[in-house]
Amino acid sequence: MKPIQVGLLGIGTVGSGTFNVLQRNQEEIKRRAGRGIEITMVADLDTARARAAVGEAVQVVDDARAVIANPDIDIVIELIGGYGIAKQLVLEAIAAGKHVVTANKALLAVHGTEIFAAAQQKGVMVAFEAAVAGGIPIIKALREGLTANSIQWIAGIINGTTNFILSEMRDKGLDFATVLKEAQRLGYAEADPTFDIEGVDAAHKVTLMSAIAFGIPVQFDKAHVEGITKLAAQDIKYAEQLGYRIKLLGITRRAAGGIELRVHPSLVPAKRLLANVEGAMNAVVVHGDAVGTTLYYGKGAGSEPTASAVIADLVDITRLHTADAAQRVPHLAFHPNAMSDDLKIVPMREVVTSYYLRLRVADEAGVLAKVTGLLASAGISIDAVLQREADEVGGEGSTQTDLIILTHDTREGTLDDAMVELQALPTVLAPIVRLRKEELS
Ligand code: HSE
Repeated sequence: MKPIQVGLLGIGTVGSGTFNVLQRNQEEIKRRAGRGIEITMVADLDTARARAAVGEAVQVVDDARAVIANPDIDIVIELIGGYGIAKQLVLEAIAAGKHVVTANKALLAVHGTEIFAAAQQKGVMVAFEAAVAGGIPIIKALREGLTANSIQWIAGIINGTTNFILSEMRDKGLDFATVLKEAQRLGYAEADPTFDIEGVDAAHKVTLMSAIAFGIPVQFDKAHVEGITKLAAQDIKYAEQLGYRIKLLGITRRAAGGIELRVHPSLVPAKRLLANVEGAMNAVVVHGDAVGTTLYYGKGAGSEPTASAVIADLVDITRLHTADAAQRVPHLAFHPNAMSDDLKIVPMREVVTSYYLRLRVADEAGVLAKVTGLLASAGISIDAVLQREADEVGGEGSTQTDLIILTHDTREGTLDDAMVELQALPTVLAPIVRLRKEELS
């Protein structure tokens, strides 16, 4: 049978990795897919770079629309990124009857509803394994491997840049800004790392996982997003003294009032596997009612790890593209007419979790009693308290100290209100640091 013909839009790191792995493993891939898969056309504004990556046998153009217009192309891979031209090209490829493979989490998390509806209407597939956690086959696991389960929660380290920064901050006791510069020097962090460090990239990814896990539309606009830019080295140290590590987690959970969808730094018990995922690695924990807790670990970025996911999608499409569209695995795991409108995203004030609080206080009689009394009257139960000697915190002769409190599960709104009262105490001398804590048990 004639090979499936693939057109590639954008040949940077992931595009050239995809080309190389497809070439290197072509025989085995063909034996799995049932026919050959060939990239026959590449579009990139930098045609010299594209030519250097793919050699002479592949047609190179600077116009992505020439790929979409080519009737011989069966699948278009979009590796341009962003919401701008990439959105237009993906919609045009769908309209032209092409299947699409993309690594573009930003595009799908924000415009997924429109894109999947267009694909559904046209009877083509939009596959996006590479959009979440790079080489880890988490989309496949959620959409197919765990399809028997009522998924209860997902918690993931799904941004390698921030995990690298947090690992370095903990290992070397350095502050955020210093480690960020180092990460940029080493090429881990982008020149503009805003999406990574502000939690936006992780929020795109958890938004996609949430939709697949719970059969709800992609709703990035409803995600709670907090990054790591305000995280202080001393909180990492205190957390460690209490038996926790701080990780930037993407969390989505089935809760009493709907679905939680949030990204923020979280204390995780040091004994959990997730707490021991270091450097730029990614890991996702999924809890299903039947299977229990499962863990997926691997490289979340990089040329060939991400290519591994892109090619898995190419193989899936090759196997299924002649199948009746209704028999294919739905884009978001649930059939489009069976998506739930009832499960709403829970506002953060209604989320119930536990907390780490750090209060810079005057080292005076009665301060601890006032703080704990206030928490008690709000109905917030304390799990642990840590107070260091004032000299250790503020230097010789210091009259201030840090009071660290871990709470039991509390409604976030209740804690917010109590924090306003705590902050107003004259003996609380600096803005209170509040981090969330996830036991993941
Ligand atoms: N910028 C992402 C990360 C990689 O640091 O994990 C691509 O998703």
